[in-house]
Amino acid sequence: DEHSTFRICCIGAGYVGGPTCAIIASKCPHIKVTVVDVSADRIAAWNSDHLPLFEPGLEDIIKTIRNRNLFFSTDTKKAIQEADLIFISVNTPTKSYGFGNGRAPDLRYVEEAARQIAHTATSNKIVVEKSTVPVNAAESIKTILKTNKQPGVCYQVLSNPEFLAEGSAICDLLAPDRVLIGGDESIDGSLAIKKLSWVYEHWVPKERILTTNTWSSELSKLVANAFLAQRISSINTISAVCEATGASVSEVAKAVGLDSRIGSKFLNASVGFGGSCFQKDVYNLIYLAESLKLEPVAQYWLQVIKINDWQRERFAHMIVQNLFGSVSGKKIAILGFAFKKDTADTRESSSIYVCRYLLAEGASLHIYDPKVSMQRIFLDLSEQTGKSEAELRNHVRIATDAYEAAKESHALVICTEWDEFKKLDYPLIYSTMKKPSFIFDGRIILDHDQLISLGFNVFCIGQKP
Ligand code: NAD
Ligand code: UGA
Repeated sequence: DEHSTFRICCIGAGYVGGPTCAIIASKCPHIKVTVVDVSADRIAAWNSDHLPLFEPGLEDIIKTIRNRNLFFSTDTKKAIQEADLIFISVNTPTKSYGFGNGRAPDLRYVEEAARQIAHTATSNKIVVEKSTVPVNAAESIKTILKTNKQPGVCYQVLSNPEFLAEGSAICDLLAPDRVLIGGDESIDGSLAIKKLSWVYEHWVPKERILTTNTWSSELSKLVANAFLAQRISSINTISAVCEATGASVSEVAKAVGLDSRIGSKFLNASVGFGGSCFQKDVYNLIYLAESLKLEPVAQYWLQVIKINDWQRERFAHMIVQNLFGSVSGKKIAILGFAFKKDTADTRESSSIYVCRYLLAEGASLHIYDPKVSMQRIFLDLSEQTGKSEAELRNHVRIATDAYEAAKESHALVICTEWDEFKKLDYPLIYSTMKKPSFIFDGRIILDHDQLISLGFNVFCIGQKP
């Protein structure tokens, strides 16, 4: 079998590289998959009992296939040399310096990976950009490979963006809505597409594997994230209208979402979207539009981010206003710090912003999250407020459960939709809180009627109190 010695290398052992390669290796036992990273700590964690990230179902899979045909290594050179196909799944954060500061994606890690490949590879490779990149990045990768390559080595560059969501990565990878592969419309290009497609065909039905030209593939990834983020901002604008009118945003979302042309998913009003990608990728699209001198397009998408910032601020304001205009010196319990449930990831979490606003008002915060570490919370708050951990410790405590956080607090603030927050013993919590006791539900997950009957003052996104 020509494929029996097929080898894959993945550069970048993060939220995308790790889970994606775990699924490929588990579904293709005869393919050797090696995931490499510049961070020796991250690789050590992947090789240990404490994986560097939490993702439901991931640990079981890793345990079965690690060191069978899935390897985590820091030996990038060896992994590149022996690979037939190389995924680049390094981070592509928003630039924080120079031209395009705060807007453009920073491609230095992608470029670094491409240079490493070019300098190291001594045989032909298919290079696959899995990282989310601006349109035309494949061209840049191609140029770098071509001008730095070893003699006689040929490259094909494909775009194969990833659509998994954190918290459901394993399900998303096992049963993707689609796999998108973009490549050159040449003979070699289509052969490379066929090869990558063959990998996915081990478990993905052929009709779900979509092939396009490279630009369409790159742009589709940005557009998919922009549309998802836009739905959330759209429903969040309506949440503000609901709070002022007596309509209920959940009822409106349901009624609207039942129209099959609109669909019911991604219409949960919230304290704002977080995560490492939505804001970054919308900015990526805005920057593209600006570069193309399409100012109205840029302005249109900018609103998605502005509404998200406004929603976070609005929620914090709702808290302060209803606590009689001041939270200074008041103990407030923050439930949830991750950017969504079922992950320990806090990148761009709305919780961080809500905490910043409340700290600026002089509140004393008691934060609880089922998965996020104390160290992570202090790092994030430090970065966001510019205060040292020692300074923050005067105003921030990390609780080991929701009850401890709630004890003697004036208010309970739901920032993340963890399932366990729905099942708490609220009569018990009520009995330990200061009176009047407040709940601010930023995720619309609690049974408000029950809470009101217990005596709580309940305020919620998208509903008049
Ligand atoms: P991450 O930060 O978790 O992982 C990236 C890893 O790449 C890091 O461990 C870093 O050390 C490593 N790295 C950087 N440069 C390297 C190099 N030259 N050699 C070896 N390793 C290197 O990032 P992520 O969340 O996995 O995202 C990766 C890409 O995938 C981004 O472009 C992102 O937009 C995209 N994406 C992310 C998600 C998600 O849910 N997180 C989903 C779809 C797409
Ligand atoms: C998102 C996309 O869903 C993935 O398809 C994409 O691959 C990924 O970004 C990426 O490119 O990184 P992710 O950010 O992991 O995935 O998680 P989502 O489930 O999309 O949630 C993002 C944020 O939106 C969370 O803060 C979530 O709480 C919030 N959200 C989501 C809402 O506020 N309302 C909703 O209805 C849905």
